[in-house]
Amino acid sequence: MSDTKPTILVTGGAGYIGSHAVLSLQKAGYNVIVYDNLSYGHPEIVKDVLGVELIVGDTNDRSMLDKVFSTRNIAAVMHFAAFIAVGESVKEPAIYYQNNVVGTLTLLEAMMAANINKFVFSSTCAIYGTPQEIPMTENHPNNPLSPYASSKYMVEKILKDFDRAYGLKSVVFRYFNASGADPSGNLGEDHTPETHLIPLALLTALKKRDHLFIFGTDYETPDGTAIRDYIHVNDLASAHVLGLNYLLEGGDSEMFNLGNGNGFSVREVIEMTKNVTGIDFLVKESDRRPGDVPILVGSSEKAQSILGWKPEYFELRTIVEHAWQWHKKRHDNS
Ligand SMILES: NC(=O)c1ccc[n+]([C@@H]2O[C@H](COP(=O)([O-])OP(=O)(O)OC[C@H]3O[C@@H](n4cnc5c(N)ncnc54)[C@H](O)[C@@H]3O)[C@@H](O)[C@H]2O)c1
Repeated sequence: MSDTKPTILVTGGAGYIGSHAVLSLQKAGYNVIVYDNLSYGHPEIVKDVLGVELIVGDTNDRSMLDKVFSTRNIAAVMHFAAFIAVGESVKEPAIYYQNNVVGTLTLLEAMMAANINKFVFSSTCAIYGTPQEIPMTENHPNNPLSPYASSKYMVEKILKDFDRAYGLKSVVFRYFNASGADPSGNLGEDHTPETHLIPLALLTALKKRDHLFIFGTDYETPDGTAIRDYIHVNDLASAHVLGLNYLLEGGDSEMFNLGNGNGFSVREVIEMTKNVTGIDFLVKESDRRPGDVPILVGSSEKAQSILGWKPEYFELRTIVEHAWQWHKKRHDNS
């Protein structure tokens, strides 16, 4: 089967979401090459678990990209490579604009030079800024509040201009909170430093951390803690395959939200983590963090109607269970 399907270059494929997308692409019969500079990625996942070719390269390296595109028959690029920490981007905006904007521009220029015009891009709901309506649709006004969010917004603008000028066709996905892990337990979330709630709660359950902070307990939500939309990483991955198929079948450039549609509070996530792991752990309450909003929940109806996407793992218990299987395997004996 894999001989008949095209080859897809996955930048950032050694990272959390990219590695799950590689697995989904493989299952759909695509040939995959991962391009990752390993600034944060895990080469053993690409080589040993996924068993695909890993090219260690940077999106800022034009000559390396030219070499890859001129020696491989690549039909499309799925672009996950980016720096992702919102707080760090506020302190170090130059690094974020260089990596996320200039790196992407370099990649797109190399693609144009090689006549590759299909592109799937990881964007973020952070582009919307403070919600004016819940659930947020793709029509929500854009107001990126951090250099990280701005870097994604700038790339979205570049993609529109490249479509008009050079015919680049792109599918942009604005994710809500990526979470969970492949049910096999072989792939999962492993960021350094970790900033996401579910892995932090699991690491606290595993005694890798002393305690877990809740930032803000006085929000106008039923239990006072912030509510977020957790989307299972395999559901993100399946949407990427559908987005790719759509482009390869001649689809026009489009942008889609990817969320679960259900919000869960910080306390609900913590209680579920204690329940799933059977481990109690210390939780400390702290002030709200600047910039955090009470509720972030997205509508993904557009992706469902245009791409036929259907999230499979929308229950919080399933998301936490899958993440737990991975974390146990990864950290139990370390
Ligand atoms: N995790 C989330 O909840 C979330 C939400 C919204 C959007 N996103 C976006 O999804 C994408 C993947 O996020 P993730 O959580 O898997 O992050 P990750 O850090 O696990 O993966 C990113 C990968 O990109 C690689 N990389 C970074 N800069 C590179 C460069 N210049 N050249 C080559 N490789 C480079 C890293 O080594 C890493 O393997 C990012 O673009 C991120 O902005 C993530």
